Amino acid sequence: MIVGVPGETAADETRVSLTPPVTERLVDDGLDVCVASGAGEGSDWADAAYREAGCEVVTDRDEVFERADVVCQVRGLAANADEPMDPYREGQVVVGTLGPYDLDDETYDELADRRVSAFALEFMPRISRAQSMDVLSSMASVGGYKATLVAAERLPKLFPLEMTAAGTVQPAEVFVIGAGVAGLKAISTAERLGASVRGYDIRLEVKQEVESLGADFVELDLETEGSGDDEGYAREMDEEFYRQQRKELGRVVPESDVVITTAAIPGAPAPELVSEEMIAEMDDGSVIVDLAAADGGNCDPTVADETVEFEGVTVFGPTNLPATVPGTASQLFANNLRNFLTHLLDDGELVIDTDDEIIDSTLLTHDGTIRRPHEDSDDGNETDDGGETDAE
Ligand code: NAI
Repeated sequence: MIVGVPGETAADETRVSLTPPVTERLVDDGLDVCVASGAGEGSDWADAAYREAGCEVVTDRDEVFERADVVCQVRGLAANADEPMDPYREGQVVVGTLGPYDLDDETYDELADRRVSAFALEFMPRISRAQSMDVLSSMASVGGYKATLVAAERLPKLFPLEMTAAGTVQPAEVFVIGAGVAGLKAISTAERLGASVRGYDIRLEVKQEVESLGADFVELDLETEGSGDDEGYAREMDEEFYRQQRKELGRVVPESDVVITTAAIPGAPAPELVSEEMIAEMDDGSVIVDLAAADGGNCDPTVADETVEFEGVTVFGPTNLPATVPGTASQLFANNLRNFLTHLLDDGELVIDTDDEIIDSTLLTHDGTIRRPHEDSDDGNETDDGGETDAE
């Protein structure tokens, strides 16, 4: 079986789907790996490293699509707006982040007509045995870390408390909204940098996790029943709830030097939580990093992929921070991908068992049919057989 790495074509993409250390393990497992020349360049992996790992490096990217049984991409289909319909061939298996919510009907039809088996890793269920394949969590962790660094770099103050002969410097006040994977990593990074950190989430069950990182959990006076599902995702609330929430947040945001927002609901626009009025009350020089920018943003002034100055506050709207840490991001992505490929293999043969929860959840099109995101996929059928992580 041939695994193909065509490389990425999105303008801001530096990551690679499979790194040489991971391809070496795939080769050891008996697979052939075909890599387009330059695929690893953005994350500092030279063609020579792939050759040493036992891969075949080809100069023509199209050749990878022609030959591979399984095409591995960081961003395929709608996740790569620069190249919406890759030249997938009849019967090919495609694995990567594919932007399933943004795929149009024509593309789904085309994939089904070509009998492509398209696996969108965004739909990896949050169950223990799928943890080692969960690229969204890996990338959110890198993104949360980098968001804190972006804020620290821009803020005209130090993060930690400093008691010096020249006087005492109070620690920066950092407030993280949304304490999922990215938010918790932003909190732990800000804590390590010595800031005074507060975290908040609509799901009260994360209070302990926030506190275990050394931060204070902000509790708002809101009725939050039904705000989360069994997989640790938030549900969309009604507009009246968000209005109340903004009113409550209006007490905390203006006291902060840094606000990092990560509030997200799968498949829905990001909730708008930080208003212009709140920002106008923040000190000049304060910084906001809105990680939800790609989904519309959690803050009023956010513009995706731009840095906006609003009333003396800098508002960053990055959409691909993992690509700014391409070494680690590619390493984690590749490990997740290898674990997923291994899950698909039985005695070296690809077996697509749609009764398996991991396969069922991630498979968009297969065998000429469109399976699409399941409306009822939040049924919380958690299985727990002790997932394993596999960091390289
Ligand atoms: P997650 O689902 O683990 O966490 C999101 C958190 O937001 C959940 O804990 C949820 O309860 C909370 N939330 C939802 N609605 C809320 C509300 N109204 N008030 C307070 N909290 C609320 O998601 P993850 O993986 O942490 O990602 C967070 C966001 O960061 C996503 O939008 C993701 O796409 C984005 N992201 C952005 C990156 C970038 O470079 N800009 C990199 C990685 C992730």
